[in-house]
Amino acid sequence: MHHPTRQKTTREIVKKVREGESQEIQGIRGIGKTHLLKEVERQLSLTRNYLPVRATFTPFLDNRANVFWSLVSAIAEKIGVKVKTPSQLAERLRSEACIELPDVLTRDYSCEYHEQILTLLSSIELDLGVIPLLMIDDYHYGKENALVELAKYPIILTTIFPVQERGIKTISIETLSVNEIYEVLQERTGEVEQDGAKTLKELTGGIPSYLHAMLPKLSDWVKRRKLSLDKVIVRRVWEEEITGGMLALMARAYIQTYLTFFGKEAIMDLMNLGTEKKVTSSTNFEILRKIGLVKDNSIVDNVLEEWLRRVQKY
Ligand SMILES: Nc1ncnc2c1ncn2[C@@H]1O[C@H](COP(=O)(O)OP(=O)(O)O)[C@@H](O)[C@H]1O
Ligand SMILES: [Mg+2]
Repeated sequence: MHHPTRQKTTREIVKKVREGESQEIQGIRGIGKTHLLKEVERQLSLTRNYLPVRATFTPFLDNRANVFWSLVSAIAEKIGVKVKTPSQLAERLRSEACIELPDVLTRDYSCEYHEQILTLLSSIELDLGVIPLLMIDDYHYGKENALVELAKYPIILTTIFPVQERGIKTISIETLSVNEIYEVLQERTGEVEQDGAKTLKELTGGIPSYLHAMLPKLSDWVKRRKLSLDKVIVRRVWEEEITGGMLALMARAYIQTYLTFFGKEAIMDLMNLGTEKKVTSSTNFEILRKIGLVKDNSIVDNVLEEWLRRVQKY
């Protein structure tokens, strides 16, 4: 789905890619990193000079193997080969694209894939005549920080907290403004008041994932009751959703992500902040501030804050 927002950021990222610069898109969970990455991918595919290859890191997979396979599938798709068995694929890539897949494909799955990834990247340029652009979503799940050094080609990463790879420019994604929320609501529901968008900004903090969760409900109200989304309606739908639990469930999932990264202590401090007590550790505070979850001594994610407050009560 195409959103009218963040077109400027998208254009800037695409421009930097063309200048050969690597970039890191950084922001809290739900801020729209994956969405932005896909949009960059879409725009670059249209130019035909690039072959964007998107891989998503997870804590459960061998992430290098993951990158390797994403490259192989992108190549296969580019030359119109259906992937069936590894050896069939190897044969067709050899005959149709002059790409020699390494033996790793058929025997050693545990190897590091270092060389193989490099070989594939240069095959894309030499044999297919397009520039490979490796895009890695959720790079923070990678245990091996050396991956970036593999690529002499530009690379785009998304991360929840800055990984600070050398020589990579960080782009922080901001929350959506009232006007952007207004545009999204206008596009999706057709009936929105300025104060409705403003209220939604206050409630969601401008975090796209929460807005996204609210959209079907909001457009339901517009359609069924023939209403325009003003502050009263928005607040009513919001309260229904909060008590209905969907947003609370999301907040809980988010805190679990942060827990795995920062540990219990930092999250306790986040709770303290949510309930207006003082934070106990300046280090924790600094981490939370660095990833953009805390700004001016309050939590940026309003839903998470509300959820923490509710949890704290029991
Ligand atoms: N610019 C945007 N405008 C409207 N909705 C968006 C925007 N960016 C993301 N979304 C929606 O918000 C949700 C979370 O976005 P996502 O890209 O998955 O966040 P992240 O990868 O940072 O966790 C998705 O459902 C997505 O469709
Ligand atoms: Mg994502």
